[in-house]
Amino acid sequence: MIKLIIDDIPVEVPEGTTVLEAAQSVDIPIPHFCWHPALGKAGACRVCAVKMLDGPIKGVQMSCMLPAQDGMVVSTTDDEAVAMRRSVIEWLMINHPHDCPVCDEGGECQLQDYTIAGGHGIRRYDGKKRTHVNQYLGEYIEHEMNRCIQCYRCARFYQEYAGGTDFGVMGRAATIYFGRQEEGSLESPFSGNLVDICPTGVFTDKTARFRARYWDYDMAPSICPHCSLGCNTVPMARYRELLKTTARRNDQVNGWFICDKGRFANAVVNAPDRPRQALVDGRPVTLDEALDALATRIDDFLELHGPQALAIVGSPRMDLAGNIMAARLAELLAAGTLCYFDDPDRAQLTGAAVALLTEDDSASLEDVRQADLIALVGCDLLADAPMMALAVRQAWRNGAKVYVIAPHPDLLPEGEGTNHTLAPGERVAEGRVRGPLPFPFEHFAAISDIPLAEAKRPVVICGATTEGVEAVQSVPRTAKLAFILDGPNAFGCAELTRQHNGVALSTALADGRIRGIISFEADLPCDLPPGIAVLAAADWRPTRLTARAGVFLPTTAWVEQEGIYINNEGRAQRFNKVMNPGLPIKGLTPELHPPRTHGKAAPGGDVAPAERLIATLMQRLGEAEVEEPLSGHWEGLRGLDAQGDGKKLQTTTPSPLGPRGSS
Ligand code: FES
Repeated sequence: MIKLIIDDIPVEVPEGTTVLEAAQSVDIPIPHFCWHPALGKAGACRVCAVKMLDGPIKGVQMSCMLPAQDGMVVSTTDDEAVAMRRSVIEWLMINHPHDCPVCDEGGECQLQDYTIAGGHGIRRYDGKKRTHVNQYLGEYIEHEMNRCIQCYRCARFYQEYAGGTDFGVMGRAATIYFGRQEEGSLESPFSGNLVDICPTGVFTDKTARFRARYWDYDMAPSICPHCSLGCNTVPMARYRELLKTTARRNDQVNGWFICDKGRFANAVVNAPDRPRQALVDGRPVTLDEALDALATRIDDFLELHGPQALAIVGSPRMDLAGNIMAARLAELLAAGTLCYFDDPDRAQLTGAAVALLTEDDSASLEDVRQADLIALVGCDLLADAPMMALAVRQAWRNGAKVYVIAPHPDLLPEGEGTNHTLAPGERVAEGRVRGPLPFPFEHFAAISDIPLAEAKRPVVICGATTEGVEAVQSVPRTAKLAFILDGPNAFGCAELTRQHNGVALSTALADGRIRGIISFEADLPCDLPPGIAVLAAADWRPTRLTARAGVFLPTTAWVEQEGIYINNEGRAQRFNKVMNPGLPIKGLTPELHPPRTHGKAAPGGDVAPAERLIATLMQRLGEAEVEEPLSGHWEGLRGLDAQGDGKKLQTTTPSPLGPRGSS
């Protein structure tokens, strides 16, 4: 360990730590623009100046570039260092347009903060400012180059960290320009991180442009629901409208970043066709009345057909408590069938994949980033788990070898390193990301050809597919496993399926005994046999089942409730409530303002989390005391902190295929 003194505080840090990081470790802030924990140092901005009072190095130095050494005595408040930082800010601001009042970054701008903190309040320069022409970068990101302070974070992230090739730095000296080499939308599926990483307002979120200041937003720690990786996010809403989503740091999962699918797919929560009204046989009623009607209909159904004819259906896109309560409801009614998956292959393969993941050998995204050999088996990373592709890229940048077995046909390169041009919005609107993987790889025919045993930290990444599940049987136990599952809570649903002997809905329908279904946030097929009654469907998204359901119960979206998702590695992570449910207020005109009626709930706000709907229904069905969902097996998750790293679960049943590495 290195011992030094910073501002009279003795500090001990591991070798390789910079002076800036050493100061941060004892909560001494040093201004910085170009240094970023995920990107490292560049020495470009010169704003991290400190004075070295004693020790091996003396004088004013850049703290981000200087490794901490024994005996250093550092001052961050020395007059010379403070004057240097003030001068640097003044230089950086010479060409800045000073347009904070009309800049979307205002209030969350590092440049604004350090300018004020550095004491630069008066512009002395009265010459002509350098100006740039901005580019159209697509429908998600706004470009304003005149605000640039040349910290290079954008180019370093886009090219080095994310492997993008269509954006970079051009020009030299005072004319340096960060943008695309030619007209068009940014192509990287991680381009939205430019918004977070830019310390000023060069790149801002166009989808939330001019809608709110930072302090106006309702926000809370949350988890992305758009794939199984469980990236940590901070959704930001105003007036009941989800306006933007930013990345939240979790070193074990997504690090500092998220993909564009997670960042820009906010419209689904605000969609005008989102079902917000409880219905009984298509007639609008209150949520209370709908639950009363459903309780009566369940009693009638059970009397007529018996409990064996009833199927309760949960879903991998519903949170854990909702799915647990679905199982409790099935238990209370003695329902013949409990389902969490529709397709039998999906149910069986997800269960088999989850059973193979023990606490020790399931790979987190951080394990992937630290791996020295990675094998990809039958998965389409950019489509199904883009941040996994970004993690693999970091491993490759650190020297890992990457091998691909049986890639998805879309991944077979037309020519390695080429970029497909995306239609505007394609990757977000369709929920799929296309393009070449952001790392080079070797293509092998079988996993047995890959030298997994020679690696120190090998990781095998598979889809929950037959080839993936079978391939890992021969993988040595030294290799960690990561499965790409289907849905933010697929792991939890696989566990519940095993605990409660669940079956796939298609399988249950095929044996002909089901006469009625109650579904919770489940995407069921539209071709349900005609004799099956959909007693009720609960959802916050319009599905094929909504119109067919006798009773429709509107539920809250994940940002309107708290809950838990269990990600692909078995990490349970809590998300907090961000906003109140209800029709968004987009303006004061009658077209944009919801109906001005007085009631207990906001217009469109008579909705509830699926978990609470089920608990209320159970009470109406005669359950005197409904048990808390996180009890018994799930008790340990009660105190889970949304700000923490989450809690890794141990799977409870051995793999039906036997222990891996045994063949
Ligand atoms: Fe040290 Fe930019 S943060 S030079």
